[in-house]
Amino acid sequence: MHGIIITNQEIRHNEYKIQRFKEEFDKLNVSLDVLKNDGTLAEISNGNVLLNIPKCDFVIYLDKDIYLARILEKANIRLFNRADFIKMCDDKMLTFIKCADMGIRMPDTFAGPLVYTSIEKPHLEFLDAVINKLGFPMVIKKVYGSLGEGVFRADNKQELYDLYQSICHNPILFQRYVSSSKGSSIRVIVIDGKVFGAFRRKNGADFRSNFGESAGSEKIENIEKYARFAGVIAEKLDIEYAGIDLLDDENGEIVLCEINSNAFFEEFEKTTSLNVAKAFAEMVVRKVYEQK
Ligand SMILES: Nc1ncnc2c1ncn2[C@@H]1O[C@H](COP(=O)(O)OP(=O)(O)O)[C@@H](O)[C@H]1O
Ligand SMILES: [Mg+2]
Repeated sequence: MHGIIITNQEIRHNEYKIQRFKEEFDKLNVSLDVLKNDGTLAEISNGNVLLNIPKCDFVIYLDKDIYLARILEKANIRLFNRADFIKMCDDKMLTFIKCADMGIRMPDTFAGPLVYTSIEKPHLEFLDAVINKLGFPMVIKKVYGSLGEGVFRADNKQELYDLYQSICHNPILFQRYVSSSKGSSIRVIVIDGKVFGAFRRKNGADFRSNFGESAGSEKIENIEKYARFAGVIAEKLDIEYAGIDLLDDENGEIVLCEINSNAFFEEFEKTTSLNVAKAFAEMVVRKVYEQK
């Protein structure tokens, strides 16, 4: 069996993952090529898909470029994760809309109206309704973002206005600030529809648990309640692989923060001593054999 890992241009972020996948797939006699998505791996020509990649049984897709993912699926290539799931996770608002269907608890959230061009004025009147409902502090997030870089907190009206005006040309959302989880979140890894394990992220210097040099991690003694919460999501969405981020709210309840389809797992493996790459490889090989 042969697989291909496709990464985004920033291959160094995925170095640990690639090395661990190579180790664990090798033990199952599966070889892996690694290709960078430089835009030339596939093309649509005369209505057909022309592939410019070696023959393979599956692709591990470590990118969020949904177009290439969809083109590969059109050519009947089995992707881990599938394109639709990557798309839903990459867009934090789509994740919330999907999970609302399933009765998953989440912080109250508004989708910001799109501001299309740089000359269009931001919609400041909309903010009053948001303030009335969410109050301060409030979280404002870019819908597409990672590593905490597109997540901000506004403590008053002026900060909200300034933040909003600086990012309103991106798709954004407004969210209730979960003050009880300041600097802390739970990362649950799901593999093959089931919870595989969890650890806590901690940041003493920022409300974003995963932002910057001060972000750290620790073991969770009892993961049961987090596993139950994430397990429902894993099962309902039939998740093959994801990192589900959870927050503890002020009422002692758990709320969903986001779902990451391309979750890194170096921190997870080092904190929990659980072997993510092995479980992932076993799932991929089983699923590929099943479909043959
Ligand atoms: N509504 C919220 N209330 C409190 N903290 C939040 C909230 N949303 C996000 N955070 C904090 O910010 C971090 C990053 O947010 P997240 O939505 O996971 O985006 P990213 O994709 O950048 O990781 C979370 O891990 C959490 O610590
Ligand atoms: Mg996150």
